[in-house]
Amino acid sequence: MSSTDPRGLQTFPAELESRSAWLEPFDWYREMRANAPVRYDPTRRTWDVFRYEDVKRVLDDDGTFSVDPRRADDYVEPERAEETLIFETMLFTDPPSHGDLRGVVDDAFEPRALGDLEPRIRDLAGDLLERADALGGPDDELDVVDAFAYPLPVIVIAELLGIPPSDRDRFKTWSDTLVEATSADDGDETAEYHERQQQAQMEMATYFLEALEDRRESPRDDLLTQIATGELEDGSRLSQEEALGTCILLLIAGNITTTNLITNAIRCFVDDVDGDGDVLEELRDDERALRTALEEALRYRSPVQAMGRVATEDVTVGGEVIESGDRVIAWLGSANRDERQFDDADTFVPDRTPNQHLGFGHGTHYCLGAPLARLEANVAFEELLARTSSIDLVDVDLEPTRSSFVYGVESLPIRYER
Ligand code: HEM
Repeated sequence: MSSTDPRGLQTFPAELESRSAWLEPFDWYREMRANAPVRYDPTRRTWDVFRYEDVKRVLDDDGTFSVDPRRADDYVEPERAEETLIFETMLFTDPPSHGDLRGVVDDAFEPRALGDLEPRIRDLAGDLLERADALGGPDDELDVVDAFAYPLPVIVIAELLGIPPSDRDRFKTWSDTLVEATSADDGDETAEYHERQQQAQMEMATYFLEALEDRRESPRDDLLTQIATGELEDGSRLSQEEALGTCILLLIAGNITTTNLITNAIRCFVDDVDGDGDVLEELRDDERALRTALEEALRYRSPVQAMGRVATEDVTVGGEVIESGDRVIAWLGSANRDERQFDDADTFVPDRTPNQHLGFGHGTHYCLGAPLARLEANVAFEELLARTSSIDLVDVDLEPTRSSFVYGVESLPIRYER
């Protein structure tokens, strides 16, 4: 990705550019934590921070480390205005305005509000699995991503927003396109990728603008109405750009991340025991064990591996001086494997407690959707386990998710017994 990437993230470091390296970046993280825990990469003009304590500090100190990519010295304004819409959202806004933007939607994501949603998520998960089972080949094989882990969060957020079922496929396509990354060296492919991104951004913007206008005129009981009509502290409403950006953020932030939580967790639960299903067995009918094991999956194969910041003043981290205006990447995925913080950090321990992982970030920008993601993943596994007596991974070459910060696989074929 170029320095104008709307999410403020950069290309992969060269060390992670190959498919196999991005599938298993953990040895490289370990090496960096030991030998260069805070390092400057001149190619990307970016600092990389790898140790737990340092990553947590970068996330917590929102005065020194801004989320606004426009504060970077080498920030280049994108050519098209739509690309900066996302900057108008909480994810890229520092306090004090951050609280205002988050406050418009945060009550919808509180566990109490989500409780009402649980039966609906259960129905959706059950339907998807029944449908996949009906379509299943002779060997009861299915691609968990395609059949289950991908559609579930898209449908849930679409329903929360108030999007009619007939528009869901378009949602999936937009959401996909917007998290996709590409290598800066890809030449033609990069141009194509930018064009696809712009097209998706435009289509989505048009769609949401109409939907927001509709909710202003005829409010309903949905999140789009909350975004269109919600009041800020001073009694004003979100600007058009802020409202639109928030819709797009909710769509992007919650989909492929939750997909990969479910998929990565299957890999953790099944991989770990050479396919004999022991971990899965322990989770069957044990709500607490399942919840604990999902937290460990968030640590062990974190769906979000990296988050970007910009230093607002000169600051020393791990003995290195980061200058004001420099870009910083906090490697959550490495922090979550830091042997200084976790015993047996490179081992998947399903009943690990305590588990202070940074999979949902930390501090001011701690994931708004964490309770929803946890609920979806829990329900997904309860429904999956209720319908299967064993699950094995099919032996195929895995393809990593095409993103420089979301970590997972494009597809995950499993073989199951009912
Ligand atoms: C923020 C991860 C699911 C909405 C974040 C951050 C992380 C994260 C690491 C912090 C970003 C930063 O510090 O810059 C995840 C993971 C998920 C997930 C791993 C799934 C397993 C969701 C869902 C939603 C959501 C389901 C909503 C539908 C958000 C929003 C923010 C955020 C709005 C910005 C919060 C703020 O800036 O105050 N997420 N997320 N996420 N996430 Fe999630």
